Order: sequence, then C-alpha cells, then structure tokens
Amino acid sequence: MVGVQVSESYVTSNHLLAPLFVIMNPTLERELVPNETSSHLLSFAQGHPVRQFATIMFIRGGLIAIAVTLVGGILAALYSVPALAPSFQSVGLDLRQLRPIHTAFASAWIFLGGVAVVHRWLQDHGGVVTWGDRWRLRVQVLSWAAAGTGILLTLSLGVGSGREYVGFHPIFSALILVGWLCYLWNFFRISGPNFFQRPVYITMWGVGMLFFVVTFVEQHLYLIPSFFGNPVQDLQVQWKATGTLVGSFNLFVYGSVIYIGERISRDPSYGHSKIAYALFAVGLLNSFTNFAHHTYHLPQDHLVKWISFVVSMAEITVLCRAVYDVWRLVSVAESGEFSATRDSFAASKYWTVFILFSAILISIPPLNAIIHGTYAVTGHAMGATIGIDSMILLGAIIWILGEHLRAREGDLAAESFNTAGMRRIVLWLNLSVAALVVWLHVSGAVTGVTRVILSPGETYVPPAWLAGSNGVLFAVTGGVATVFFAALLWRLCPTAFRYWWVSEERA
Ligand code: HEM
Repeated sequence: MVGVQVSESYVTSNHLLAPLFVIMNPTLERELVPNETSSHLLSFAQGHPVRQFATIMFIRGGLIAIAVTLVGGILAALYSVPALAPSFQSVGLDLRQLRPIHTAFASAWIFLGGVAVVHRWLQDHGGVVTWGDRWRLRVQVLSWAAAGTGILLTLSLGVGSGREYVGFHPIFSALILVGWLCYLWNFFRISGPNFFQRPVYITMWGVGMLFFVVTFVEQHLYLIPSFFGNPVQDLQVQWKATGTLVGSFNLFVYGSVIYIGERISRDPSYGHSKIAYALFAVGLLNSFTNFAHHTYHLPQDHLVKWISFVVSMAEITVLCRAVYDVWRLVSVAESGEFSATRDSFAASKYWTVFILFSAILISIPPLNAIIHGTYAVTGHAMGATIGIDSMILLGAIIWILGEHLRAREGDLAAESFNTAGMRRIVLWLNLSVAALVVWLHVSGAVTGVTRVILSPGETYVPPAWLAGSNGVLFAVTGGVATVFFAALLWRLCPTAFRYWWVSEERA
C-alpha cells in the first residue's frame, strides 16, 4: 500500500492560507494532474469557500430529500394496511401521490448525495472559482430547490405524470435539466483537461452525468404523441431509459465510494486499479442492457434477456469485490476514527452480497414471472437503494460533515460522529431495513406462488393471513427503519445546517 502525504494531515481549523497557493495557481493545477492524488488532497477548510458551501448545500438537499422520502414511504406503508386506507382516502391521499413522492425523493437523495461528493472533489481540484462557476452554481441550487418544492406541492395535490421515477409534472423536468446542465459545465470545466488520466471515479462521474442528461430527456419521449400512442414502444423506451437512469446513479455511487475510500485511507492507487476500471466498464455496459429485467413480459428475443442477466450478475459480483476492497482500505484508519463511515461501508458490503442473491433469483425468467408486480420487487429495489447506495452515500456524508465540523470547531468536534451511539444507530438502521426488505421478499414470494397455485387465469385473492399481515408488517418494519433513519438525521442535520455559509470566510 502506498503511503501518501496528504496536506490534511498537517492542518486543523484555520488554514485558509495554504489553499490560496493551490487555488491561485492554475498552472500548478494542470501540472499536478498525472500524480494529482498524491499531492492534491486538500483538507475541507483548504477548499475555496464557495466550493465548501456547495458541498454542504448539496448535503443539506440530500438530507431534506431523505426526510421527504421517509414521510412518503411510511405514509404509503400505512396506506397499505387495509383498515387505515379509508382514513387516507378521506383526506384525499392515496398511493397515486405517496408513491411518486417517495420514489422521486429517493432518487433525488441518491443523486444529491453523489453530487455532494463530486463537489467535495471539486474542493480539492477546482482552483479559482470564476464568475461563471458562481452563477452556474446559483442557478443549479435554485432550480433544483424550486423543482423539489414544486414537485412536493403538486404531487401532494395529485398533479403528476403517472410515470415511473419521473412521476411529477414535466414542467419541473425543465428546471431539473437546467440545473444538470450547469452542474455538467462546472464539472467538466475543471475535470475536462486530462480527463482520461484522472482516476476512474472522475470517469464514472463524468459519464454518469452525461448519461443522466440523455436518459432524462429520453424518459420524456412519452410527451411525443406517437410514442405515447404505442404502448409496447412506450414501455420499451420507458424501461430502457429507467435502466440507464439507475446505471447513471450507480456510477455516481461507485465513484463516491472509491473517492472517499481513497481519501480516508490516503491511498490513491485504487482509483487506477483494474477492479475499479472493471466496475466502470461492466456498470456502463449494464446501463444499456439492464432494461431487459423489466421488460421480460414484452416481446423481445431471449438473447436480450440472457445478455441482461449475465451483465447484471457480472456487475454486482465486481461491485462486491470493489466494496470489499474499499472497506479494507478504510479499515486501515486508526481505530475509532471514521467509525460510522466504516460501518456504513461495511454494511453496504453485506447488502451487496444479499442483493446479488436476490437479483440472481428474481432474474431467472420463470421466477421473474412469478414475483412480477409483487412486493419482492419493491424489497429488491429498496434493499439496493437503501443497503448499497444510501449506506455508501451516508458513509461519505458523515465523513464530509466530520471534516466540516473539524474545520469550524477544531479536531475534537467531529468525535460526536465516532461515538458508540452513532455506531449503534447505523447498526440498528441496517437491521431494521433488513427486516423490512426480508419481509417484502417473503411477502412477494408468497403472493407470487399462491397466485400461480390458487388462481391461474382468474382474479387473484390472497390468502386471508397474508392479506391481514402484509400491510401491517410493512408498516411496522418500515416504521422501525424510519425511527432509526430519523435518529441519524437528528445527528447529521444540526451539523449540516449549523453554519449557513459553511466557511469562516464569506466568499
Ligand atoms: C432512504 C430510504 C429509502 C429509499 C432510498 C427507498 C427507495 C424505494 C424505492 C426505489 C421504491 C420503489 C420500489 C419499486 O420499484 O417497486 C420504494 C417503494 C416504496 N417504499 Fe421505500 N425507500 C426508502 C425508505 C422507505 C421506508 C423507511 C419506508 C417505510 C415503510 C418505505 C416504504 C415504501 C413503500 C410503501 C413503497 C411503495 C411500495 C409499492 O409499490 O406499493 N421506504 N422505496
């Protein structure tokens, strides 16, 4: 393992002089690229104040998105308890509003978490903040904030598109897209020069961003009447686009875990390793092929399904290995240091193995036909987005917030993130989410099997015990998970919101 001298080892809170040297010297920035990681990791306080603000601002957005996701999720789960559904309906709420609120904000959280980590990297490498950078950042933050608020309000009022993952009115899509274009511009302005010599996480983020924009536009093809008028084509395009969208947020998450792993371990070699490149290559390929899991029921060649199956299994297998490697990398940190981050990464390692098994099973065509449309799919999607994506991003965010706190309040301030209490929250959060996800798999499997046995060709009536316990167990396990999520937010939000302008210096 390469021992690397990073500047952060030598700085504590008030070190705005050191960064100026790097920030004010764009020539140095360019010269540093081939070897950049070894000499160019700045502590949080050394980054330009505007970039510090941006990183924390996206973390704030991500935390708010989690909170909305949780409220939408728990209300939707309570709605699935038959005795409670009429009360919801009486106030004009049902799954048509709650589900899209939940899924739109769950995806927003994952993107915002990834965007925050990308901005943490920009703190290291961004150099001078130009007038254009500032304006693009302002437009990005404001347009996304406006879109988020508008989506929440309109979906609550029942105004939406009815589409999967982009269930909001398309007017907000324009705001989201404007923000992405600004983000893309700011990112490539810094990372564009020597793009391919940079670590693979930069490639992952860059490709993820381009993918997002293309996919997002593609997801709106339904607005063209000829697409909407042809249901098979519409479903094909919708799932092709959603598959790529998932691929794009996976690339953000994979890039984030490698970058944060390198930062914590101070070992810059993983971003150039074979496994990291393999993960990028197979993840990219899967973005183009994974749609077939969702379109098994549409007319398509078996070869397409097989390609999709093999590529997805390859991706998750390489991911298992990469997460394991990164977890080992971060485990070299002194005991007690970054413990909540390490625990979150460790959890994502176990989740990856579990999701691999779940994915293998539900991708086998006859089994897929049985569980199609049941809670097993919900369990699988939530297991992956909470267990893998959220655990990695929460680990990353905890580390960044710890840095921010150290920069403002001194080295000991971040100890509140390394306590036994914090580790217990991470542990119990994972156990409660595991209970939720396992129950959803069990419920889905029982629904699928009884549907095949009891009512081939007829309207399906679930067994009474299943109908009675399904929603209740969903709400109970989900409620416990929500409590631990809330406990985590309770610890993270005060730090994220304590210093509005983030840096001591207002820039
Ligand atoms: C940050 C945490 C969470 C994330 C990222 C997340 C993610 C997701 C995703 C991706 C789906 C769509 C699944 C599908 O395609 O069928 C979903 C559905 C759902 N989630 Fe979550 N979820 C989270 C937390 C929760 C919690 C704590 C609950 C509470 C019970 C919950 C309840 C639900 C419900 C009720 C659905 C809709 C199920 C249906 O289709 O009937 N989620 N979630």
